[in-house]
Amino acid sequence: MAFTDRIQAEDFVKMPREYQELLTRVLTIQADCEIGGPMVYAEKWMLHGPSADDIWRVTRIVAEEVDHFRKFARVLALVGLDISPLLRKASSERLVAAFREKDPPTWADVAAFCAFIDRVGRYQVEEFADSSFLPLDRILQPIMREEIGHIAFGVEKLKQLCQTEEGKAQAQDAVDRWLPRGLDMFGRSASRRSERYLYWGLKRRPNAEAREAYVAEVTPVLAELGLDLPDPEKDRAYL
Ligand SMILES: [Fe+2]
Ligand SMILES: [Fe+2]
Repeated sequence: MAFTDRIQAEDFVKMPREYQELLTRVLTIQADCEIGGPMVYAEKWMLHGPSADDIWRVTRIVAEEVDHFRKFARVLALVGLDISPLLRKASSERLVAAFREKDPPTWADVAAFCAFIDRVGRYQVEEFADSSFLPLDRILQPIMREEIGHIAFGVEKLKQLCQTEEGKAQAQDAVDRWLPRGLDMFGRSASRRSERYLYWGLKRRPNAEAREAYVAEVTPVLAELGLDLPDPEKDRAYL
């Protein structure tokens, strides 16, 4: 049995505590990722890409991520939660380990980040489709569309890098850094909380199933680029 009702913001207070906690938790993590992601590379690369086209695109991607944060923040405001303090957190305090980056990113990191971490972002947003919390419906479509654009930009930039041996080595290095972090973002395979999200209609797929779909999607992308898939089971925390 699972919860199949679809509720409005004003019904939130009538819901069991577990629902309230899981909904605010998952949306807070999502918002933290929306703002924590671009903070990994914006400072170094927003006005410093290799070409005017790249500068325009990266700057626009950063603006779109800030907008995604605003959209999730507005949904959380409907249930009385103010998440604006997330804007001022140190990167070491981000909720998801992938965004606690200390080293300055290379241009290849920006490309791999968009190709693989934004792709996890797209999977996360997909989990909310037809969720039990109706206010999410209004924000998902534009966010999904923009994430698809971010992913395409990342793949295109990796492809450009792979045209030279030196660039290809940089791309592989960046993929080896970011893809395992992306896999970790799906959470542990055996997770009681993941089951409760499914029960309450706040996610659609178990963590392991979403991760497997992601691996099936990125494998041919890497093959086309001529890059190797980092061993997905090596040193991973989720197993
Ligand atoms: Fe986003
Ligand atoms: Fe994105």
